[in-house]
Amino acid sequence: MSRAPAARSEIQAARLHVERATDLHEDDLSALCEATNAAILDGGGFGWVNPPGQQALERYFRGVMLVPERELFVGRADGVITGCAQLVRQPRNNEAQSFAASIMHAFVAPFARGNGLARLMMLRIEDRARALNYRVLNLDVRESQEAAIALYESLGYERWGVHPHYARVRGRTVQGFFYMKTLKKGGTDPHGVGDFAQSP
Ligand SMILES: CC(C)(COP(=O)(O)OP(=O)(O)OC[C@H]1O[C@@H](n2cnc3c(N)ncnc32)[C@H](O)[C@@H]1OP(=O)(O)O)[C@@H](O)C(=O)NCCC(=O)NCCS
Repeated sequence: MSRAPAARSEIQAARLHVERATDLHEDDLSALCEATNAAILDGGGFGWVNPPGQQALERYFRGVMLVPERELFVGRADGVITGCAQLVRQPRNNEAQSFAASIMHAFVAPFARGNGLARLMMLRIEDRARALNYRVLNLDVRESQEAAIALYESLGYERWGVHPHYARVRGRTVQGFFYMKTLKKGGTDPHGVGDFAQSP
């Protein structure tokens, strides 16, 4: 007997998990690098155009976990890391923009897509940003990343700008789309942006 769609999606959601990574065991790091490698080969969207190799990726992620302004969130399907994203704060000197953080370098490995993991990662990071008292989340994306654009717009990110010379990929210049989302804090301000004086 076939299952109803709702039951199927509940089962999918139960297989997914997102957590903040502060230390990754060898198996987890290896799975993360494998997922990253596959995403880069597929057209990535988070900087690398050519896979830099396992060792460079391991060094990169170990480095990310040490940077005070960065939080690495990993997404798991059936316990295996298949995607990640980063919450990035402003450096300390940037008091004027301390109400805002960025979501960067989000991806899910091609073999794990379409199961809701990216949406779950985004929601977890938004929860974390709210808990840290951020009011605004920023992100940017290549014009060619259609799935990511659909995801961000479905989550309420507003496109406020287009960068005509955003990236060079395989000899072609691609535009970049810049998005922002205001995080509601409760209270009476519908956008939660009334009081920027309180930094996180
Ligand atoms: C964007 C990406 C992270 C989505 O990962 P995913 O786990 O497959 O996404 P989800 O299953 O959580 O889907 C969430 C939403 O994304 C959008 N989406 C996902 N795949 C899509 C596709 N192939 N076409 C159009 N929209 C798509 C939909 O809005 C979807 O919501 P829905 O299922 O309710 O329709 C993944 O495709 C990816 O890694 N792409 C390459 C890297 C990238 O573009 N990163 C962003 C750089 S800023």
